[in-house]
Amino acid sequence: MNVFYRELAAWWPLISPLDEYEEEASLIHDVIERHRPRAARLLELGSGGGHVAWYLKRRYACTLTDVSAAMLEVSAATNPECAHVVGDMRDLDLGRTFDVVFAHDAIDYMTTARDLAATFATAHRHLAPGGLALFVPDHVAERYAPATDAGGSDAEDGRGARYLEWSEPHDPAQTSAVVHYSFLLRAPDGVMQTRYERHEFGLFPLHTWTELLEAAGFSVEVVEETTEEDRPPRLLFLGHKRSA
Ligand SMILES: C[S@@+](CC[C@H](N)C(=O)[O-])C[C@H]1O[C@@H](n2cnc3c(N)ncnc32)[C@H](O)[C@@H]1O
Repeated sequence: MNVFYRELAAWWPLISPLDEYEEEASLIHDVIERHRPRAARLLELGSGGGHVAWYLKRRYACTLTDVSAAMLEVSAATNPECAHVVGDMRDLDLGRTFDVVFAHDAIDYMTTARDLAATFATAHRHLAPGGLALFVPDHVAERYAPATDAGGSDAEDGRGARYLEWSEPHDPAQTSAVVHYSFLLRAPDGVMQTRYERHEFGLFPLHTWTELLEAAGFSVEVVEETTEEDRPPRLLFLGHKRSA
């Protein structure tokens, strides 16, 4: 992920505009409010450009973490009120606890059961007793279908970005699949560049999600989103840390 989340980090606001996150952020907010109405402190793992956080920070004090310093720099410009810390979700240890630990699509980058379990342990370690872990993967294995998607937007200064995302079929013997990204980027003077990168993303069956969350010490709940978007609804995995 040296291209998308490092070299191209500054293009994130154009590649994946803020307004595309409103529906999902609102759902995530509602789920947290329903289960932890008194939550005040939220830790996000793999917060990227901070586009979900931009909506959540209105209600929660957010600490945003990501393995890419370049993505956190973009997020810090969008979310100066939030704390930003570089760290890998598999071994992050901030030495303090939160009411909610949340990972959005960044959890897709956990491609083995071992990595997923390590992230669940990170969430558990950072939750106060009675806290809520919330994971929102793009896919689970049972509902996955290869797809093509495209998007992007333009800035007032003449910059523009477009991407094509093309995912491959899943081999059920594997816990991951491959997605190809191609980017077309326009500088303010009109000069174009193209970039390509291959990513691997995790694809786990429902039972792996629930078993690993339980093994990490959570009681588990699965919620299906409602969406206006043209795609199968996502599943939200809730892990309730027991009260002391
Ligand atoms: C699609 S972006 C997240 C965008 C984010 N949902 C937003 O609202 O802007 C995925 C992020 O996952 C991060 N990531 C990938 N592997 C990670 C890891 N092991 N630990 C922490 N972050 C990771 C990448 O650096 C990238 O910023």
